[in-house]
Amino acid sequence: MQRSAVLNVMVGAARKASRALKRDFGEVEHLQVSLKGPANFVSAADHRAEETLYAELAKARPNYGFLGEETGRRDGSDKSHTWIVDPLDGTTNFLHGIPQFAISIGLERDGTIVAAVVYNPITDELFTGERGKGAFLNDRRLRVAARKSLADAVIACGLPHLGRGDLELGQRELTAIQPKVAGLRRFGAATLDLAFVAAGRLDGYWERNLSPWDMAAGMLLVREAGGFVSAIEGGDAMFTQRNIVAGNETIHRELQVLLQAAGKG
Ligand code: IPD
Ligand code: CA
Ligand code: CA
Repeated sequence: MQRSAVLNVMVGAARKASRALKRDFGEVEHLQVSLKGPANFVSAADHRAEETLYAELAKARPNYGFLGEETGRRDGSDKSHTWIVDPLDGTTNFLHGIPQFAISIGLERDGTIVAAVVYNPITDELFTGERGKGAFLNDRRLRVAARKSLADAVIACGLPHLGRGDLELGQRELTAIQPKVAGLRRFGAATLDLAFVAAGRLDGYWERNLSPWDMAAGMLLVREAGGFVSAIEGGDAMFTQRNIVAGNETIHRELQVLLQAAGKG
């Protein structure tokens, strides 16, 4: 597969940041037993990863803007292009020694995501995509799953928990969807959930209370793998609605209908 220059920059940045993250993940295991726990250590690792990503991306494209979870927005003189970065998606997993986390980089051009990298340093799975050029896992082209019935589908979601999200709405959504599907999963890394939909491992995914860096790269992967992505309410305003539903055309539509009904209470 042929990667564009800009995608190579993104892959290089992700690989560079991943080296320290992988070392830090090894350390986290030892810290579980300490009374203070690894929280401060993980937060430092998270910030370090974002700084490495910023440095690498800015070195290659000094004029682009940058929106990172840890450091917020840094404007560039090029108003058309913005990197949207989650240096560590799946922090809770990382903190608990669960190897389901990723570095996520999306490139936005004039409001559209045009390039994506989602990289899990532990499994060494590198998901990449470019608008109009397809999505890949390492060198293999991705295609969303073909299952047309929810009864055969494995669906991932995010769940409200202590201090986060609308618990009652979450319960209504589960009540609507749980009895209709072959399996439900809550993996805890939104970018990988979307990448797994692109890879056909998951048939669908939805989540509320997300931020742009949780969705930017993954949603391009799904679309480039032939899938559908929208806000639960419909339309493309995932970043402002802060939610997303994804799948192949049929599963996406069926999930959307159920979630909209659950949303009305
Ligand atoms: C979180 C993960 C998680 C999702 C949360 C996100 P973080 O990102 O993607 O799966 O349920 O809503 O905030 O905090 O680990 O970068
Ligand atoms: Ca995240
Ligand atoms: Ca994060």
